[in-house]
Amino acid sequence: MRRKPLILGLCLFFNAATFSSARAEVAADQAEFLMHKVLGTASCATSGCHGGAGPVHGAVATFTREDPHARSYDTLATPRSARMGEALGIADVRTSASCTVCHAPTASVPEGLRGADLRIEDGVGCASCHDSAESWLRTHTRPELDHAAKVAAGMRDLRSAYARANACVACHQVIEPRLVETGRHPRLIFELDGQLAAEPAHWREVHGWDGAKAWLVGQAVAWCEASAARSDGRDTLAGAAEREAALAWLVGRAGGERLEGLAADAVARRADADWPAGEGEAVLRRLAGAGGDFRAAGVSRLEQAYRAERLVLGLDRVVAAWPERARAKAAEPVLVRLFAAAQSVPDFEPASFATLLDELARLVGGAG
Ligand code: HEC
Ligand code: HEC
Ligand code: HEC
Repeated sequence: MRRKPLILGLCLFFNAATFSSARAEVAADQAEFLMHKVLGTASCATSGCHGGAGPVHGAVATFTREDPHARSYDTLATPRSARMGEALGIADVRTSASCTVCHAPTASVPEGLRGADLRIEDGVGCASCHDSAESWLRTHTRPELDHAAKVAAGMRDLRSAYARANACVACHQVIEPRLVETGRHPRLIFELDGQLAAEPAHWREVHGWDGAKAWLVGQAVAWCEASAARSDGRDTLAGAAEREAALAWLVGRAGGERLEGLAADAVARRADADWPAGEGEAVLRRLAGAGGDFRAAGVSRLEQAYRAERLVLGLDRVVAAWPERARAKAAEPVLVRLFAAAQSVPDFEPASFATLLDELARLVGGAG
């Protein structure tokens, strides 16, 4: 099993004025989604299907017992959510699209397309990631059909890092600014590899999984989403430009010459399709060697802070994926200190962060 993130989530509840994100635009994805009846989790849960045990056959049990998504609707019933609602002038957060669009997305499925067992209370359920099952339910178990045929029948492709990142990013990067500002909703930071490792896998990784590649693909997709949200006006608040610039810096730094000059989506596709042997280690060295960038003049402290916030999450993933296990283990204490140094955006000190990075670079063999 892959190591869970060493760094368990950044503290994202600081000063709301500094932090803003953008409104989610999950709806676009739903045009396709809405052509077929949307079935509930119960449709997948019979014992011969995914209501059994183990990966794949036990998907429903693993998911409902342990997956953070299984409680996404219940979160809306907590006092904390009710207080967010009060601050935002929302009478009932359990029925407001401002919340259900991510916490209970099937709430927006029109009456005529609701399967008999579709329950809003299931929150982020099977259909939220795999797409509405009606079109492929009967065919997806036929042994003569391969993955591509199932996908052609309407099952969403989640196999590649690129496809998967695009499925998750819709709910995990951009959020309506007032929710963070007024409602104190956590600011969202998408990071594919660590967030996947934090979900109990209810599947078998068919083609293996390269954590370092997945991390970079995920950051390029996050960058793409952050840029789109700024240019179409969903991310309007202070700090958004710095966060976007920080992502561009990070992806450029990690990708190296091979991916230089490519736009965000092209980086994501190229990294996913073509990942040379040893590339993960090369990414680690490039990132650990970034100390000089934190000493450079001409970059605002705010942008530096956002660079650091993303960088530590990335270092965690590329170290976790590093085949040299003993050296990876030895690097962990420095990672923890780097994380602490990146924890608070308002208090960020680029110079001391750079010194810690140099220390990491010596441990992993990157240029200081
Ligand atoms: C339809 C929206 C939606 C999609 C798609 C989605 N998530 Fe989530 N995710 C949520 C919500 C809402 C929560 C908060 C759950 C709660 O109430 O605690 C969450 C929580 C999580 C958490 C726990 C909190 C955290 O950030 O550590 C992880 C991990 C996670 N999601 C990973 C993923 C991954 C990986 C994917 C893609 C395979 C994904 N999610 C796709 C909506 C979504
Ligand atoms: C853009 C998608 C999105 C929207 C819209 C959204 N949330 Fe969330 N929410 C998430 C994700 C993702 C998480 C998990 C974040 C994390 O842990 O970093 C989360 C976490 C939370 C948490 C914290 C859960 C915990 O255990 O820490 C609360 C409370 C919450 N949301 C309530 C709401 C309410 C109330 C609304 C509407 C006013 C709302 N959310 C709208 C995606 C969303
Ligand atoms: C947060 C997103 C998300 C949700 C929600 C989700 N899954 Fe998945 N699921 C994935 C990912 C990612 C994979 C791995 C992709 C793959 O193997 O093709 C996967 C794979 C699977 C597989 C294995 C497919 C295969 O071909 O090996 C099954 C079965 C499955 N999911 C069933 C379910 C069921 C049943 C539910 C609801 C109880 C569910 N999933 C909810 C993300 C999700």
